[in-house]
Amino acid sequence: MNSTAPLTTLRPATLKDARAIHDLLVYYASRGNLLPRTHENLCRHIRDFVVLEEAGKIVASGALEVMSNDLGEIRSLVVDADQQRRGLGQQVAARLIDMAAEIGLKRVMALTYVPEFFTQLQFEQVERESLPEKIWQVCVKCYKFDHCDEIAMIRKL
Ligand SMILES: CC(C)(COP(=O)(O)OP(=O)(O)OC[C@H]1O[C@@H](n2cnc3c(N)ncnc32)[C@H](O)[C@@H]1OP(=O)(O)O)[C@@H](O)C(=O)NCCC(=O)NCCS
Repeated sequence: MNSTAPLTTLRPATLKDARAIHDLLVYYASRGNLLPRTHENLCRHIRDFVVLEEAGKIVASGALEVMSNDLGEIRSLVVDADQQRRGLGQQVAARLIDMAAEIGLKRVMALTYVPEFFTQLQFEQVERESLPEKIWQVCVKCYKFDHCDEIAMIRKL
C-alpha cells in the first residue's frame, strides 16, 4: 500500500456528519444539480446515508431511500467539487446498491442530470411514468413536478 495515500473510509453516516453532508448538498442544490434538502430533513433520514471520509473530511455521501417493498432510490449523491472523477461517486453508489440488495430490494432508481454516471453502474434509462411509487410519494410535492427535466434511471438487482 502507498503510505502517502490518504486514509479513506466508507461508512454509515451519523448525526455528527449531518452538517458536512448538508454543506455538500447546498453547494450542488444552489447550482441546480440536485434538489435542496433541509438540515432537519437530512437528520431525520440520516440512517439512509453513507459517507466517504478521507483524512478526516467528508468528501462524498449518498443515501438509499426505500420507496416500496421492491424499489429503492439513490438520492442526494454528492462528491466534493475538488474530488471529482476519482471514482468516489462510484464507490458510494456501489455501497448503496449493495445495501439495497442486502435488504431485499429488487430495483434501484435514480433521478439525475448525469445519466452517464449511472450507465457505468448498469442502470438503464426509463420513463419517469414507469415509477409511480416515486411520482406519487415524492415528485408531487416537488416544485419541479410539472416541469421536471431529470432523467429516470433504473437498475434491476
Ligand atoms: C455525479 C457525481 C456524483 C459523480 O461523482 P464522481 O466521483 O465525480 O464520479 P466517478 O469518478 O465515480 O465517475 C465514474 C464514471 O461516471 C461517469 N461520470 C462521472 N461524472 C460524469 C459527468 N459529469 N459527466 C459524464 N460522465 C460522468 C464517467 O464515466 C466516470 O468515469 P471516468 O471518470 O473514468 O470517465 C458528482 O459529479 C457530483 O457530485 N455531481 C453533483 C451532484 C449530482 O449530480 N449528483 C447526482 C445526483 S443523482
